[in-house]
Amino acid sequence: MRRFTFSLVAVAIIVGLVTIVAPARSHADGQATAPYVTEIPHGYRDWRWISSAHEAGNLNSLGAVLGNNIAIDAYREKKLPFPDGTIIAALHYRNVPSDENNKAFGQAQSFVPGPATNIQFMVKDSTKYAATGGWGFATFVDGKAAEPASMKSCFPCHEKASATDLVFTRYAP
Ligand code: HEC
Repeated sequence: MRRFTFSLVAVAIIVGLVTIVAPARSHADGQATAPYVTEIPHGYRDWRWISSAHEAGNLNSLGAVLGNNIAIDAYREKKLPFPDGTIIAALHYRNVPSDENNKAFGQAQSFVPGPATNIQFMVKDSTKYAATGGWGFATFVDGKAAEPASMKSCFPCHEKASATDLVFTRYAP
């Protein structure tokens, strides 16, 4: 009987531990597979151009949006939602005046990409990134992934483009 009671207590302790540890563990796993991309997608600089965007104000940036082959095909075929494997890159630079070009023009009118500010990516994987609309977001500054805390704003704002699968940029003709 004593042995039986002992085993009951042991079982109770184990069950208790499992219920305490299990949620903590799944939480930790959830963080390990956080919906952010932590590695720079290979070969992005050779991808094809989708469009460009200039942000004024404090950002004062000049951006080029590039896509891998899956992205370009989806855009051209007007395929929505974008298929898994789609990657869209946004390369951002300071928007700076070009003295050299302005001299040639004879007046101040030319702006070109200055120093790189960051590179952002959206990677489509509807399983892995299910919690953020199927898109994994990424920001790299000087080749390093941004802090996860700074990535929380991506999805809520991109959700505003829900009619185009969270992607704002249109394919420039
Ligand atoms: C306040 C809204 C807002 C937030 C926050 C935001 N974006 Fe965007 N994003 C936009 C808009 C609008 C565009 C299109 C204009 C442009 O490129 O400047 C865009 C463009 C992009 C693009 C090109 C594809 C597309 O959807 O047009 C990528 C990649 C991107 N953002 C990644 C990110 C990442 C990564 C984060 C989080 C660190 C983020 N964005 C946060 C609004 C936002």
